[in-house]
Formats: sequence, structure tokens, C-alpha cells
Amino acid sequence: MIILGIESSCDETGLAVFDTDFTGNGLRANVLFSQIDLHIPYGGVVPELASRDHVRRLIPLTKEVLEQADLSVSELDAVAYTAGPGLSGALLSGAMMARSLAWALGCPALGVHHMEAHLLAPLLEDDQPEFPFVCLLVSGGHTLLVRVDGVGEYQLLGESIDDAAGEAFDKTAKMLGLPYPGGPELSKLAQSGDASAIKLPRPMMDRPGLDFSFSGLKTAAITRLRGHQASGEDSAHFKEDLAASFEAAVVDTLLGKCARALKQENLNNLVISGGVSANTRLRSQADELCAKLNGRAYYPRLAFCTDNGAMIALAGAMRLKQGEQSGLDVMVRPRWPLEELGKP
Ligand code: KG4
Ligand code: ZN
Repeated sequence: MIILGIESSCDETGLAVFDTDFTGNGLRANVLFSQIDLHIPYGGVVPELASRDHVRRLIPLTKEVLEQADLSVSELDAVAYTAGPGLSGALLSGAMMARSLAWALGCPALGVHHMEAHLLAPLLEDDQPEFPFVCLLVSGGHTLLVRVDGVGEYQLLGESIDDAAGEAFDKTAKMLGLPYPGGPELSKLAQSGDASAIKLPRPMMDRPGLDFSFSGLKTAAITRLRGHQASGEDSAHFKEDLAASFEAAVVDTLLGKCARALKQENLNNLVISGGVSANTRLRSQADELCAKLNGRAYYPRLAFCTDNGAMIALAGAMRLKQGEQSGLDVMVRPRWPLEELGKP
């Protein structure tokens, strides 16, 4: 089966071709257009601009990805697209493209859950995790801890009760005067700071359970920044130290809950996926945690941590293998809890 994957849930137009018979990891081609430059002047994603740009890019990128895969459009067996969660206009652009193409070709169109695709993304690598495992999904919109027993077998163990980890990174970065998207910029700044210089809380670690909260931590960091600015002091490394201390607090909290989840589920393999899984400190400390538990930590390659079409094509292929069908309607779900996957 040859599946075209289309991602358009936010500010990235990603297309990929996944071939179940292709040697290696099945990925035949992958292209991406990032809208970052378009949104930088606004300090964040402008939904209407995002939708319009997806519309502009979808057809040229479809041609490009087919060329890269050395395929003609008639050779596609299915088209998978992100049906949610995400920005409704952005989702609709990709969904319309996918549904129309599938209709013209007489093949199925599969609406994929964006977070399930992030969760499965490490299966695009040569070194793949085996089921069952605990998965930490950390993106701009979600922070979820999930027990994964197989494709479609997900049990939500915990989630953020307020800001997602990526959102907290982005908002704190903005206050530090860093450009959008702030997560990678803050992480870069943190590299020249001292992570123990500024004391910040590790939220929800003092209570039982697997939920997260990042809103208070973000506010604590911003309060320290304002206090420093008001004091008139000019310590050379304050921003670097604050970035490093904030990053350390987020990573400690995320991994503290992962350790708890692994213990609770009696597992020692951890998958971390979603945009924040590109974070170097998170990856190195997760490796250390899993090594202590005689297990392993798995991640997608850096290019597939953030949004991409490859993970959508892969998730579509797996759903198709499980016999999932598609209707002729164009269905998007801007809000779509992972627990409701598979339910009407
Ligand atoms: O998965 P993703 O591309 O989009 C969503 O589904 O939300 O994740 C984007 C998020 C943003 O909040 C971005 O700042 C964050 O991932 N991010 C990072 C890093 N790279 C991306 N956060 C911390 N450190 C990074 N290196
Ligand atoms: Zn994402």
C-alpha cells in the first residue's frame, strides 16, 4: 500500500509518502513548508494566515513529494490527513485537499488524530520501541502521559491541567524577548546559563498522580524576570540563567512524572514525542532515567519531533492495516481528546 500523508493542523504544511513494501522504514518521500517567517511579525500563529498559506502550498507540495517518491498520483492507494486536533481552518485546508484527491482517485481518505501520529512517529526510525511502553507527548498544545499497548490501544495516565509544556516554553520565551517559536530559542539561550542559579518550583511533584501544571511555573519565571528588571541590577547572565533554570524545572517535572508512570505500569521503556521532544536536556535526562531502570528512551529523529507529513502517512497506513474505512464527508475535529479516538 502506498499512502500519501498530509499535515496542516497548525503552521507547517507537511506531505509524505509511506510505502508498506518499501525497504527500511517505509518512508519514500517527505517534504515540509514551515510558515514560521509568516507568523514571526505577530509573535505567534495567526490562524487565518495559516489556512491561506496551506491552501497556497498544498498542490505544489503534493507534486513535489510525488516527484521525490518517483510516483504518479494514480499509484496512491490512500490519502491520510490530520483531522484534528488543531486550528479549524488549517485542518480544513488539508482535509479538503485529501478528500478531493481520494475522491478523484477512488481510494480511501483517512482522518488521522494528530497526537496519535506524534505518538507513533518513533516507529519511522530503524531503532523502534516495542509495545507496551509509556509515551510522553509534549507539543505546543498538549502534554499527555499515555500507556500504549499497541496501535489504537491507548490509556491516558495523566495530562496538563493548564498550559502545555511547549506553550509554557513559548510564553516564557516571549517574555524573555525571544522570537516565535520560543521553545527552541529559549533552549538555545539556556545552554549558556546556570540551571541551578534561580530557584523555580517543580509543580505537582509534591502530590500523588500523573497530571501536570505549567502555568504557575511560567508565572514564577516571569515574576523573577520582572523583579530583576525592577531592581535595576544588571547581572550579565540573568536571562541565560533564567532560561536554563526554567528549562530544568520543566524537564525535572516531565521526567519526574514519567518515572512515576513507568513504576505504576511496571514498564521500563519510554517514548517521548511531539515538538518539545527535540529538547536536548529532556532527551539526555530521559536517557539517564531509563538507563537507571534498565530500559530505553525512544524519540523520533529531530525533523519528526515537530509537525510533519511522515507521521500522518505512517498513522494512516497503520489505521488502514486495521481495516479503517472512510466516508465521503470532510470531517475535522479542532478539539479531539485522544481518549475519544475510534469513537464516533
Ligand atoms: O508538535 P509541534 O510541532 O506542534 C504542535 O503539535 O503543537 O510542537 C511545537 C512546540 C512549540 O511549543 C515549540 O516551542 C516546542 O514544540 N519546541 C521546543 C523545542 N523545539 C520545539 N520546546 C523546547 N525545546 C525545543 N528544542
Ligand atoms: Zn504537533
